Order: sequence, then structure tokens, then C-alpha cells
Amino acid sequence: MTSNLEILQQQDPDVYAALKGEEQRQKSGIELIPSENYTFPEVLSTLGSVFTNKYSEGYPGRRYYGGQEYTDQIETLARDRAKAVFKCEHANVQPLSGSAMNQAVYLGLLEPGDSILAMDLSHGGHLTHGAPVSHMGKLFNFVRYVTNPVDGSIDYDQVRKDALEHKPKMVLCGYTSYPRDIDYENFKAIADEVGAITMTDASHFGGLVAGEAMRNPFDFGFDVVTTTTHKSLRGPRGGMVLCKKEFASKIDKSVFPGLQGGPHMNAIAGIAVTLKRAQTQEFKDYAQQVLVNSKMLANELMQRQASLVTGGTDNHMMVVDTMESYGLDGRVAEETLDKVNITTNKQIIPDDPLPPLRPSGIRIGTPAATARGMVEVDMKQLGEWIDRCLRSPDDEAVIGEIKGAVETFCKKFPVPGI
Ligand SMILES: Cc1ncc(COP(=O)(O)O)c(C=O)c1O
Repeated sequence: MTSNLEILQQQDPDVYAALKGEEQRQKSGIELIPSENYTFPEVLSTLGSVFTNKYSEGYPGRRYYGGQEYTDQIETLARDRAKAVFKCEHANVQPLSGSAMNQAVYLGLLEPGDSILAMDLSHGGHLTHGAPVSHMGKLFNFVRYVTNPVDGSIDYDQVRKDALEHKPKMVLCGYTSYPRDIDYENFKAIADEVGAITMTDASHFGGLVAGEAMRNPFDFGFDVVTTTTHKSLRGPRGGMVLCKKEFASKIDKSVFPGLQGGPHMNAIAGIAVTLKRAQTQEFKDYAQQVLVNSKMLANELMQRQASLVTGGTDNHMMVVDTMESYGLDGRVAEETLDKVNITTNKQIIPDDPLPPLRPSGIRIGTPAATARGMVEVDMKQLGEWIDRCLRSPDDEAVIGEIKGAVETFCKKFPVPGI
């Protein structure tokens, strides 16, 4: 029988060639973008499955189309597993992405114009945390807290002052480029003082909470936690809203019919199998190793005199001030590392004097490298390559030598699913 891939090759050689090229790129390079990962092989199977054919508007038992016997099973499994893994009362697994999931929370629990206290984009927050260029930034009144200029960590006294002054309806923590853990107790106390809903956007570290390597905001009484499913959790691209029962109905109505139409049942099947994996000891070990690797890589870079925002990491990522460390802006640093098959991303740092497309730093994370089986000794090696490369961006001999070494090294670490 001809496989689906063989049919693709015959039908559309251009797309097939790009797919094969991407497979090769993923195999022969080291992925250090903190928001990326390799999903599980069985997730790739669900994504390319017949669930993509099905319209399932509504929720299990309450759909607008017939033929929902199996989609109901899948979504119920995904919801129940999400509740068990994140120890929460309600889960909505339909958001098509992380951005949609956050929008659904704001639009479901607040009124346009309400104030939300959230982290500034340039200090580590996400676009959907109220950046002026995002639609959410226009619809809601975001008050954006920044980090402490001395050590780069969240300034909780300032967060409290901002909360008392602006009386937000929601206090939001969570980040896209902040290398430290969150003081949930402090955030919750501040929110309680002003009667605000508490929300954590755990998109980056959702897998580390699931694997019990990082703390769970629900243990501190948080109302809502959102997470993407494709970063540290290693699932398909998507988002989940997890919340207390009292918010369940508003959240569900906000996702559908408020914001979205038909859910992507192939992705929801992928979320279900990911959450089964997340309950295993193997996944817990993975989550721990992500953190151990991150600390190791950060220490190696710092020993080589690189300057890291906040002076280290408590989570799966670090932000390197490449301007201060190597005299290179983040774009040049990213492009230089690209030349040796090490993929990172340019990153604005707190109070960055440089513009976003040419910022002062890069962001590095360990979830994907760890998914390939890399451990501490490999992080030391990576640190050496990154440092040498950024010290000699124009030395073709050094760049060529490291690229060759990286390609050989990658052969030892198969990419899951390829
Ligand atoms: C903290 C945070 N929230 C939300 C998102 C949005 O996710 P998506 O890209 O799936 O829309 C991201 C993505 O990087 C993120 O880092």
C-alpha cells in the first residue's frame, strides 16, 4: 500500500522536498530556542490522522454536528488528563494557539477597558500580555510591570504599588523571556489585596509544572492557568485554559462560540496522548533534566565571562546579553550561531537601548536538546561552542570547525519522531 508520505512525494514534490529539508535541518542542528521542542512520535500520528476531517463545534455531549462518538471520547480524555496533570477543577483544551487561549480568558472574565496588571514585553512578558501592538493591548487597559534594574528580577514591591494604584481586575504572571521562577505567594497576596483574579500564563514552563519540576500556581490558590501545549510539554501546537470550577462556564463560552469555531480535533487527540506521557516517571525525569541542563549551560557560559540577565537561571532558559559579553547585537549573534547549526533567537533585554529586530541579546533554552537525550556534559560542550563562536564570528576556520563538530555530535542524538 502506498503511504501518505509517498503520495505527498508523488503529488507535490516541492512541498515534499521542503519537508525532507526541514527534517534534515532538525537532525543536523541543535535547537536551543526555549519555546521549541520535538513532539512525541504518536503526536505526529494524531496530527496526520482522520480527526483532521471532523467538525466538532461545541463540547462533548453538546455538539452542533453529528458523528461525534470518537471526538467526544478524545476531548473528554484530554480534559480529564489535563485536570489530573495540572491538579485543577476545569480544563478547556480547544484553544487553537497560546494567543487565542489568553484572549479567551481576558474576553471571558473581563470587560473591554478593564485593567490587567502584566509583565512588560521588553522585560519578559508576551505580546498577549498587553503589548501596545497587540489587539489585546488596545482592548484592555494593561498596566505593565517591569523588572528591577539592579538584578533584573521581578520587583514585587513595585508590582504591589502598581496594583494599589491601578486596582486591576486581573493580576497576570508568566513570561516568555524571564529566566527566574515566580513568587506565586506574593502575586496572590497582591491580587487579594485589590480583589483581582489571578492568572498565570505558564506557556513556557507548562511541561515543567506537569512534570513536577516547577511549582504549580494552583497550589497557591491561583484562579486561572494557561499553557501552550507545544513548548516544554512536547505536545502539538495549541493551548489550554485550566481554571477553578467557578470560571468554567465563562471560559468555555469565551473559547466557543465567543472566539473560535470548530476545534482542531487532530491536535486535541495529540494533547490527549501528550498528557498521558506527562504522567509517566520518564516525563518527570525529562522535566528535571531540562532544569539541570539549563543551569549547567548557564554556568558554563558565565564561567566563560558571558553576561546573563539576572545572573543565571531557575528555569529552562537564559537570556545572554551578547552586546555586553561579545560586542555583538542579538541578530548578529543569532546569525553567527546559525552558521554552526546552533539555533537560538535574538531577544530584547530589559530597558534595551537597541530595537527589537537588532536587540542586545539572545534567548537560549534546553527543552528540545534535553528531548534528544542531551545531559550535563553535553551542555558544557554546547557552552564552549557558543562562547567560541561568538568570540570569533568572522573567523571562518573556527566557524567551519565548530559546524563540523556539531554535525558529528548531532548524529549521537536522534530526533524523536524522525
Ligand atoms: C508566555 C506565552 N504566552 C503565549 C504565547 C503564544 O503562543 P502561540 O504562539 O501559540 O500563539 C507564547 C508564545 O511564545 C508565550 O511565550
